[in-house]
Amino acid sequence: MEKLILVLAESGLETVPKEISHHPAVVSCARRRGKKPTQILLDISLHYHAMKRLPEFQKRGRPDIAHFFLLLALDSPLNRRRLMETVIHTLQDKVIFVDPSTRIPKNYNRFVGLIEQLFEEGRVPPDSETSLLRIEEKSLRDLIEYFNPSRVFLLSERGKGTRLLEFADTIAAEKKPMLLIGGFQRGDFSEETLSLCDEIISLYDESLTSWSTVAIVLTGLSIALRLL
Ligand SMILES: C[S@@+](CC[C@H](N)C(=O)[O-])C[C@H]1O[C@@H](n2cnc3c(N)ncnc32)[C@H](O)[C@@H]1O
Repeated sequence: MEKLILVLAESGLETVPKEISHHPAVVSCARRRGKKPTQILLDISLHYHAMKRLPEFQKRGRPDIAHFFLLLALDSPLNRRRLMETVIHTLQDKVIFVDPSTRIPKNYNRFVGLIEQLFEEGRVPPDSETSLLRIEEKSLRDLIEYFNPSRVFLLSERGKGTRLLEFADTIAAEKKPMLLIGGFQRGDFSEETLSLCDEIISLYDESLTSWSTVAIVLTGLSIALRLL
């Protein structure tokens, strides 16, 4: 394996959409933070009542998933050895490219501030030539075209049951595998996402969180590659 492309797919990471920017719960949150409602991240634990009228609301408003995911992915031996690229794809078809050297704030509020700045400026830090994080309009299909992976694997509780180390060997044997993990709490991947994958794999017979899944699969792959 030359490089793993690790993607948090369809993640519930977005700023408050205009449709609910006048809802009192959103307005008071934004005022407390000294920002406009559309500049703050949508968060289901803060904006539940406002979000109930949004389409697919159960898949949205979970910045904490991206936070845990990035902390685990960027600290992994695979990333330390520069054997992977980490990318976040959002439900609104934006893509965040993450430089492997990025140090994600461990504090959640600082993470939220960083991602809000990214949505506002398009890159972080905004005025440096080499950005640690940059965001672009891109669908999952565009992302696959951009990286041109040798094979696309999607992890899902509804996939083909496979033992971790067997799956890790399969990934390790690929030149440039892409691995998709869902970045939403409830619901299913879209038909479009499912149609873009070569294999759908389940690693356990119950639903796991995105962050447990990434920890499990990166550990398996590190063992297969003899990094652990
Ligand atoms: C909380 S789940 C999302 C819930 C959703 N019901 C689903 O369709 O997967 C978050 C992500 O973790 C991964 N995941 C969860 N359980 C898994 C399992 N048993 N095997 C493989 N991946 C799993 C999937 O990528 C999933 O999208």
